[in-house]
Amino acid sequence: MEKTLIPTLLLLSNIALADGQEIYRSVCYSCHDYGINFAPKFGAKNQWTSRSSKDIEELVDFVVTGKGNMPPNAGSNLTEFEIREAVFYMIKSLK
Ligand code: HEC
Repeated sequence: MEKTLIPTLLLLSNIALADGQEIYRSVCYSCHDYGINFAPKFGAKNQWTSRSSKDIEELVDFVVTGKGNMPPNAGSNLTEFEIREAVFYMIKSLK
């Protein structure tokens, strides 16, 4: 019991402290690094131009409610705050 509890607690505290890059690396990369299911690729400006011009809150909403092949909350249990951090990180990479 203790053997599994401690790594779980460490994992949870990592997620709570994670910044946008870490959140991206833990969840979003699995589709956005590779363009899975036509996900716009990380850092690929030409795939983001029509999207990145949107309001950041609108983009966060798409992730929370899901869009096309992206499941609600990106299929994760991230909070809206964490999703916003990850969206900021993705948009910043295009500048
Ligand atoms: C299961 C694969 C998958 C994962 C995981 C995923 N995405 Fe996506 N994402 C997609 C796909 C597919 C689209 C394109 C949706 C469309 O336009 O139909 C997309 C689109 C987006 C968009 C653009 C929305 C728009 O305006 O069209 C943003 C922003 C985004 N994802 C952020 C994230 C963030 C942040 C995460 C991690 C928390 C994440 N995604 C994880 C598949 C994924």
